Amino acid sequence: MCGIVGFTGRSQAAPVLLDGLKHLEYRGYDSAGIAVQKDGAIAMTKTSGKVDALIDKVRATGGMPGVSGIGHTRWATHGVPNDVNAHPHMSQDGRFAVVHNGIIENFAELRKELEAEGVAFQSETDTEVIVQLLGSYYEGDIKQALLRTVSRLEGSYAVGVLSADVPGTLYAARAASPLIIGIGAGENFFASDITALVSHTKNVIDMDDGEIAEITPDRITVFDHAGRAVKKEERHVTWDVASAEKNGYDHFMLKEIMEQPAALKATIEPRIKGGCVCFEELGLDMKNYDSILITACGSAYHAGVVGRYLIRKLCRIPAEAEVASELRYGDPVIGERTLVIVVSQSGETADTIAAMKKCREAGATVLAIVNVVGSTIAKLADAVLYTWAGPEIAVATTKGYTTQIAVLYMLAAYIAKHLGLLQNEAALTDTLQALPRRIQQAIDMNPSIPALARKYHASKALFFIGRNTDYAVALEGALKMKEISYLHSEAYAAGELKHGTIALIEEHQPVIALCCNASIMEKTLSNIVEVKSRGAEVLALTFRSNRQIVSVADDLLFIPPVDPLFSAVIEIVPLQLLAYHVARENGCDIDKPKNLAKSVTVE
Ligand code: F6R
Repeated sequence: MCGIVGFTGRSQAAPVLLDGLKHLEYRGYDSAGIAVQKDGAIAMTKTSGKVDALIDKVRATGGMPGVSGIGHTRWATHGVPNDVNAHPHMSQDGRFAVVHNGIIENFAELRKELEAEGVAFQSETDTEVIVQLLGSYYEGDIKQALLRTVSRLEGSYAVGVLSADVPGTLYAARAASPLIIGIGAGENFFASDITALVSHTKNVIDMDDGEIAEITPDRITVFDHAGRAVKKEERHVTWDVASAEKNGYDHFMLKEIMEQPAALKATIEPRIKGGCVCFEELGLDMKNYDSILITACGSAYHAGVVGRYLIRKLCRIPAEAEVASELRYGDPVIGERTLVIVVSQSGETADTIAAMKKCREAGATVLAIVNVVGSTIAKLADAVLYTWAGPEIAVATTKGYTTQIAVLYMLAAYIAKHLGLLQNEAALTDTLQALPRRIQQAIDMNPSIPALARKYHASKALFFIGRNTDYAVALEGALKMKEISYLHSEAYAAGELKHGTIALIEEHQPVIALCCNASIMEKTLSNIVEVKSRGAEVLALTFRSNRQIVSVADDLLFIPPVDPLFSAVIEIVPLQLLAYHVARENGCDIDKPKNLAKSVTVE
């Protein structure tokens, strides 16, 4: 939800800011803008639309010379995405420009107060109150004015400030929205995340809630809420430049689908030693818990649903999965003996953070499964297991989701072992280590996917059905399809069809049936026969050797033979590719689907 970037150095700021915004565009892409300081004044260019439109506009204005500046790419919350509401926003006196990611909850009250003092607001945004407050509090000391400004804000913010008065100095502030400072040689940066900076520096400082920073080309000083200097650790990031580029693929999503074998290897290999699952980083005694609650949003929740099946099966302890946006306002029955597992690629999802805080207040221990190192969820959790998927740029998650499942598989095995329930660990770890290969096979054995996409792309709706973990994968398959191709797709537990949904089945209605679990295959087969006898076209996802399903389905997708306990992580891959190719057929903006943003840092 919005990306911000700032640069101060000795070279031109605008190209660095625009390149940074291109890399942050996955966070929001309905409008964008930059502001650059030069000769005691701030120049600003903003536009509705994507960063490419901003690049054209900046070029047309002569490139915006200047060696310090700030930039923003927006996912609108307050005010429609037009040029005026695009960031940066400027104080009435033109002395300050501000970019902001987050939501200022008390903006209406602050705006009223400022208007009463004679401030004329230009935009409908909540952000403008920040810059107008700053302008009104400024009496020659920006740090003091900024501290006073942020003390008035309720909500979440990562803020970048550019001043006309102090050449080459940027300010930044953070509360509950991601913000890092990048350390260069004779140049320094801030950004919402490392993807914007990785071509310039891999050395960063993570800002914490309540802190502000003063950034010049040669010095970075971080202060706490009282204005006292804080000593911060430097962190070296291992993500490389290539991982944030498309590398010849048409879309980041396709690249990230294809990266899954390598991503899963990076997730699994370091945790398997001598035929055992080792989570040296965990530091929790699994005997202390007698129930498990998994919470997350969207695809991460779907990974949690897979995890729930496995934990129940292997560990024989009560396990539930609940979406975080419900859990945060519900009454979960949890306490000190509950292990809450939160799952998040970005580590910044607002609902997940709120749910985890609620669970901690109830006395539960929170274990986070997260991709982004140093993210808010990673910092707040009692223990963290990283997925090590590398940067995920496409808005629709793929390798983020499959690596979450891989960690949940290993965690289930680890817990089962600690409860004395795991038999034949060596065989299980062999299966886990083979998963990256199996994913590659699943990619290779389905060359018909583009043709299937041509057949199904114009359908009115798609139904995904399955049972148990097949159902968990159906949820994710339907989400992938709808979010990138805009084709109405729903997932149903196959046995639920006859309780209502079957009324929608008519001649040529496509039904995607997931049949990868031999123990319940007969049951799903019956559901396939039921929908076929009402005219449905069935695209079945199964094993090549499954003659019963192969002979009854109209079309087929295959996965290689794999223990059904661990098939979910393979099954999703052909469905990701199907969604990708349907979206291509429909001419959709695959990496940046409409109305979405990758990191949902607002409620
Ligand atoms: C769908 C998708 C979203 C995310 C959800 C949670 O493709 O990416 O549903 O899974 O917004 O995001 P994280 O995992 O960052 O908490």
